[in-house]
Amino acid sequence: MNTNHSTTVLSAQGLVKRFGGITATNNVTLNLHKGARHALIGPNGAGKTTLINLLTGVLEPTEGSITLEGQDITRLAPHQRVQRGMVRTFQINQLFDTLTPLETLALTVSQHQGLGGKWWQPLGARKAVTERCEQLLEQFHLTSVMAEETRVLAYGKRRLLEIAIALACEPRVLLLDEPVAGVPAGEREELLQTVAALPADVSVLLIEHDMDLVFSFANRMTVLVNGTVLTEGDPDTIANDAQVKAVYLGHGEGSSDVGPPQGARAPSGGSEPRAAGSVGAGGLHV
Ligand SMILES: Nc1ncnc2c1ncn2[C@@H]1O[C@H](COP(=O)(O)OP(=O)(O)O)[C@@H](O)[C@H]1O
Ligand SMILES: [Mg+2]
Repeated sequence: MNTNHSTTVLSAQGLVKRFGGITATNNVTLNLHKGARHALIGPNGAGKTTLINLLTGVLEPTEGSITLEGQDITRLAPHQRVQRGMVRTFQINQLFDTLTPLETLALTVSQHQGLGGKWWQPLGARKAVTERCEQLLEQFHLTSVMAEETRVLAYGKRRLLEIAIALACEPRVLLLDEPVAGVPAGEREELLQTVAALPADVSVLLIEHDMDLVFSFANRMTVLVNGTVLTEGDPDTIANDAQVKAVYLGHGEGSSDVGPPQGARAPSGGSEPRAAGSVGAGGLHV
């Protein structure tokens, strides 16, 4: 194992996840380094969401182990992992529709500050909570809509709120499953730049399909195909990797054992904008 303990925050070792006859995760080893902006890419059905579900404890691995800051967390419940500093957002937006962004954040911040039982106290009664909410609203461009019910917000704002909620938990590791899916094109870059600009001690693992966005965000990339890590490296290395190009051409050229996802491996109701195909200006011109 090439785990570098001085910089590795989150480590998956030999993870396997089988659903009946399908091997969604096939012996995946991945190390997230401290402060990384690490992208996890791959065609639809590659196993990206499954891997995040394993890391966060939504799913239990068939085989393998996961460590967070050197501690084995393989069998911990999702909330125990959150308490240890690992927080995720979902591919599909999950918010309380009738609460406002301010109320939603106040709940989360109160809970995080150990005031969960006092969430009903008038907003503003707790200075530390109010200040932290104001900060997050500002940081995620939500101040102008902080008093509107979440259900009426533009989709981009809803996604920003979701990331703000994750940040309210003060994570050291943030796992983002397609945070800009469904966000209008003009707002995606700003949203991801906000994430990229998070404090250096927050390590981020991002699943994203848009290669322009991926290349402007990531300083490390892992390519997953058919549940297996095809390759990992810095963006330059990935952009020039023949096997990766072959996968994104969708023909499996340049590699005998790597190809596009088969029909049987279609995602379970995902909303991915595209599977294999040409990729953008970030470097993967094929
Ligand atoms: N709960 C599940 N039950 C059965 N098969 C699943 C389940 N979740 C995912 N899969 C399968 O595992 C594979 C990987 O899916 P997924 O992790 O969603 O891929 P990605 O996020 O890369 O599109 C797919 O073949 C998918 O159909
Ligand atoms: Mg997915």
